[in-house]
Amino acid sequence: MDSNEIRSRFLKFFEKRGHAVIPSASLVPENDPSVLFNTAGMQPLVPYLLGQKHPMGQRIVDVQKCVRTGDLDDIGDSRHFSFFEMMGNWSLGDYFKEEAIKWSYEFLTSKEEGLGLDKNRLYFTIFEGDENASFDQESKDIWMKQGIPENRIYALPAEDNWWSPGDNGPCGPCSEMFYDMSGNVGDLSHEEFLQAVKDERVIEIWNDVFMEYEKKDGKVVGKLNQKNVDTGAGLQRMTAVMQGKQTAYDTDLFGELISKIKDLSSVKNEKLERIVADHIRTAIFMVSDGVLPSNSDRGYILRRLLRRSIRASHALTMNNDYNSLVPIILNKYSESY
Ligand code: ALA
Repeated sequence: MDSNEIRSRFLKFFEKRGHAVIPSASLVPENDPSVLFNTAGMQPLVPYLLGQKHPMGQRIVDVQKCVRTGDLDDIGDSRHFSFFEMMGNWSLGDYFKEEAIKWSYEFLTSKEEGLGLDKNRLYFTIFEGDENASFDQESKDIWMKQGIPENRIYALPAEDNWWSPGDNGPCGPCSEMFYDMSGNVGDLSHEEFLQAVKDERVIEIWNDVFMEYEKKDGKVVGKLNQKNVDTGAGLQRMTAVMQGKQTAYDTDLFGELISKIKDLSSVKNEKLERIVADHIRTAIFMVSDGVLPSNSDRGYILRRLLRRSIRASHALTMNNDYNSLVPIILNKYSESY
C-alpha cells in the first residue's frame, strides 16, 4: 500500500464516520507566536480544542504538515526527519474515549477499510495515573472490549502517556498503539515491552490523546469545558510498517528521490543521501507555504536547511544537478497538497 493510499484510506475511514475532511493548515502558524512552524497536528486546532466553534463542525479529519528542526544533527539516521505528515481525527467536544479507541483499532486492523494489520503484532499503552488524573481504567476496559488481552496493555507514567504541546495549552492522558516490526516478538512483560520499544523492535504508530485538561506555565491547572480527542498517526511510520521497511527512507515516500540522488552521485554515503533528501523536501514545503530564505526566524531555518542539503550534495559530488531533485518532490506530493 503506498503512501497516497494510506492517506486517502485514513481520510475516507473517518469521513464515513461523520468527520469533515479539512486540508492541512500551512506550516506557518497563523496565530501562535510560540512556535515558528506547526510541530503537531493539533497546533492549528488549538482554539477549537479550547472551545471556539470550528466552522466544519465537531468531527474533523486531516493530514497536517509539520516541521521539527530541534534535532537536525540527528538527520541521516533511520528515524529523524525534519518534515512529517500527521494523520489525525479530532473530536472537538463530541465523542471521547469509546469511539476514539474503537476507531483507531478498526482502522489499524480492518482489511477492507483500513490497514489490515495483524492483531497479534499490536501492543497498547494507557496512562498509569498521577496527581493530575487517575489510572485510565476506562481506556483499559475499552481496549479489552475490542478483544485485546490484558497482558498487551501497559500502564505508563506521564513522561510517556501525557501529551501536551508545551508548557501551555490543551493536554491530557493518552493511549498509544505500538507495532512489532519483525513479526516474531510475541507476548512481552512490562519490562520486556519497554526494552523492545528502546530497541525499536516495537515502534509507536499512533497516539490517541484524551484532551480534557489545560496546562499553564508548565502546570496542569484543571479541566477544559469540553472533552476532546486529538489523535496523531505519523504517515512516515505507517508507510514503513505497510511496506515492511525499517525506515521511511526505504518507502515510496523517498524511493524515487533517493535513487535519483544515488544516480547523480559518484560517492556513496547513506547519511549524506538522507540529509539531501530530507532537507530539500522540507525546504520545498516551507517555500510552498511562503517562507523565503533570510537571516532570521523561519527564513533562517530554511536557509540553514538548504545550505546543509547543498553542502551534502556537493560531498556526494552531485554539484549542479541538485535542482533536478525538485520535480520529483513536486510530483510525489502534488496529489495530496
Ligand atoms: N498530538 C499528539 C501527538 O503529536 C497526537 O502525538
